[in-house]
Amino acid sequence: MSSFWSFYIAALVVLNIAGCVWLLWYTAHRRANKVNQAETTGHVWDGNLTELNKPLPRWWINMFYLTIFFTIAYLVIYPGFGAFSGTKGWSSIAQLQDEEAKMQAIWNERYARFEGQPIDALAKDPEAVQVGQNIFANNCAACHGSLAQGANGYPNLTDNDWLWGGTPDRMLETILNGRIGAMPAWGPALAEGNQLPAVVSYVQSLSGGEKSELSARGETTFKTLCIACHGVDGTGNTMLGAPNLTDHIWLHGSDTATITRIIGEGKTNQMPAHGPLLGETRARLAGAYVWSLRQEP
Ligand code: HEC
Ligand code: HEC
Repeated sequence: MSSFWSFYIAALVVLNIAGCVWLLWYTAHRRANKVNQAETTGHVWDGNLTELNKPLPRWWINMFYLTIFFTIAYLVIYPGFGAFSGTKGWSSIAQLQDEEAKMQAIWNERYARFEGQPIDALAKDPEAVQVGQNIFANNCAACHGSLAQGANGYPNLTDNDWLWGGTPDRMLETILNGRIGAMPAWGPALAEGNQLPAVVSYVQSLSGGEKSELSARGETTFKTLCIACHGVDGTGNTMLGAPNLTDHIWLHGSDTATITRIIGEGKTNQMPAHGPLLGETRARLAGAYVWSLRQEP
């Protein structure tokens, strides 16, 4: 706040308080001069019901003085008078930070015994899995589903199919630092000679679809353009997050239209980094919950 605005606000506050004091003093003063003399407003009903204008009772006025005293005391202790921060030095942001630090300390204490433990070891500890489940429900379920079974574009975390690798270390890395899966758009490159349907057909043949003349034509293109990421046999690459195309599990959908769209238009899909949000130990606990859901192969 600039000193002009500080002064402006302080002046308004003083003016307001002084105005209230004057008003009270004036009212009380009027009364002192006209003891027990109630003015009539001139309104008379039913012959003898006269409306009077009586001064406020003493105790009522004193209550007003009390609120003014309270105002001044408040402005001395707490911020509110221009830029003056109050004798107590209180601020809402400091209170928030203080409470956050306290919460963090409670968390640190509660999670201390889980610190630095590998995800798969934590997954054997029922308490860690329970805590992890709560963390998952609050931070991950919105995308991966409350049972971690995923949805269109969000991987199922309970199968044994991993885009980015299913070892405890790779999974922790995924949760802490996030991942970006980038599938380039091949529409333009495949437009020549109408190769897109052929490639789609070949990709479908990898996952149990029919082999045909069309898919055979797509195979040549696949082996030129796609194997760098998806591998010669189409089983994917967990260093790049390139899905296995042979396992009947589809991240974005198994129908021809969807596969055509993904190959033609590409897809960038992101798992946000949760390290900054959760801290490492809580990320490990969420990972432990996910690990506990794994079906042993
Ligand atoms: C905003 C949505 C979102 C949230 C929140 C989210 N994820 Fe993800 N997650 C994704 C997406 C999308 C992917 C797939 C990224 C890709 O396509 O490469 C993913 C991938 C993953 C993977 C890798 C799966 C694989 O097959 O390799 C794991 C493990 C994972 N998430 C765990 C978690 C955990 C644990 C949390 C909570 C702490 C979480 N995610 C929160 C969207 C989310
Ligand atoms: C630069 C690496 C890269 C290349 C090259 C690449 N892909 Fe991909 N592809 C990916 C990644 C990464 C994904 C996952 C995107 C995501 O996380 O949503 C993907 C996803 C897909 C999917 C969706 C799989 C599913 O489960 O829904 C199909 C189909 C696919 N690619 C086919 C192809 C074909 C066909 C080609 C060659 C014309 C190709 N890709 C070339 C990286 C690549």
